[in-house]
Amino acid sequence: MKNDILKDSSPFPSDFLFGTASSAYQYEGAFLTDGKGLDNWDVFSHENPGQILDANNGDVAVDQYHRFMEDIQSMAYLGVKSYRFSISWSRVLPKGRFGGINYLGIKYYNSLIDALIANGIKPFVTLNHYDYPQEFENRFKSWLSPEMQKEFAYLADTCFKHFGDRVKHWITLNEPNQQMILSYLEGIFPPSRCSMPYGNCSQGNSETEPFIAAHNMILAHAKAVQLYRTKYQKQKGSIGIVVQTKWFEPISDSIADKAAAERAQSFYANWILDPIIYGKYPEEMMNILGSALPQFSSNEIKNLKNSRSDFIGINHYTSYFVQDCLISACNGGDGASRAEGFVLKLDRKGNVTIGELTDIEWLHVHPEGFRKMLNYLNYRYPNIPMFITENGFGDMEKSETTVKELLHDTKRIRYMSGYLKALQAAMRDGANVKGYFAWSLLDNFEWLYGYKARFGLFHVDFTTLKRTPKQSASWFKNFIEQNANTE
Ligand code: NOJ
Repeated sequence: MKNDILKDSSPFPSDFLFGTASSAYQYEGAFLTDGKGLDNWDVFSHENPGQILDANNGDVAVDQYHRFMEDIQSMAYLGVKSYRFSISWSRVLPKGRFGGINYLGIKYYNSLIDALIANGIKPFVTLNHYDYPQEFENRFKSWLSPEMQKEFAYLADTCFKHFGDRVKHWITLNEPNQQMILSYLEGIFPPSRCSMPYGNCSQGNSETEPFIAAHNMILAHAKAVQLYRTKYQKQKGSIGIVVQTKWFEPISDSIADKAAAERAQSFYANWILDPIIYGKYPEEMMNILGSALPQFSSNEIKNLKNSRSDFIGINHYTSYFVQDCLISACNGGDGASRAEGFVLKLDRKGNVTIGELTDIEWLHVHPEGFRKMLNYLNYRYPNIPMFITENGFGDMEKSETTVKELLHDTKRIRYMSGYLKALQAAMRDGANVKGYFAWSLLDNFEWLYGYKARFGLFHVDFTTLKRTPKQSASWFKNFIEQNANTE
């Protein structure tokens, strides 16, 4: 790989999709409007206000439910060709299969989809982005039960049926890997289940829960894909999955550290991608976890292979150094991964950090890691197109931060410019990338950071909900104008 990341940028192919990304709970608000049911985040944020910065929640979020026309105008200003959003499960199916369809919810997404298309913006729809009806938690512990596979297939069926005539890009699940870590390993996202010895919370449950939950998600994905390819074949769209990716750089050239970095990938992105593409878990996971890792039946393996994704969606923000812990003992680091034999070196306690630090502790600016990540994925999963479904920069708002500073977001511009150059370099290296979605169009509800971590190209005043373009919005608009091939 030549070190030509800063080489003059080459135009993107004419069918390359530039877009912005969002998700239902982080954007919609209207949490009880028009028949929406309660979801896991509604309940979690109301029952555990202390766990979210400023005791905030997504009850109102950026109120996109009522303001989507204005937001589409913002997208049109940027010149993006696509909008990635997710379906709020409890808005269309408040109780899943245990209740009926909420037709006002269907109507909302129909209006959103129609308005996007009328403005020349392709809907890129995620069926599920972290939120699901609370009913599932109460009835069968949601993702810990195979029942969830049936529920998910029902959601997919409902969405393909009502929206599939116009939606030609589907994503089944957003970041199963990251969701499982936050929800079942660290226990900081609902349903707050912590798997000892990995996590750091008092109510330990079972070490195998993250793997069981992910197993159900992988099989749920396969069911939705199969349904799309059979019952909805005539809709002729494409369907894929989104994983969170991090570049894991070995901290030294030693064989042990290189193997540790490979293990880190296996326990992260490959955990999900290997099964959905090759029908089995990564070797490293099987070796280390043994019987703690659920098994796919021969029928399931067949179904997984038959439901190969049309594309892989890549969310990417940051990189880590990785040090081996299997062969030599190592201390420190942020890794919740010591049991898997590696430690992540990323914190502010004297450990080695990769890239430039930001005010968000997990976000380190290292564009070269993005290029390496894309090359790695292209090598491990050849011939499958990729979309960058999220990439972006967050500003942490402090009490002294002014709106002027937030609007003058030169750090975001620097970050995006570096990462887009890295993307262009990876495409020159051979990575088959079909689109790039900036996270995010607007400042929004950033989960445990509440409204304090601002990822938007547009600033939102959370008192008035007024949207104002930041400097990065006009920068991104110019970037698209100059680099998109409009032939
Ligand atoms: C990935 C998640 O999909 C999204 O919900 C989140 O806001 C961004 N990362 C930024 O943390």
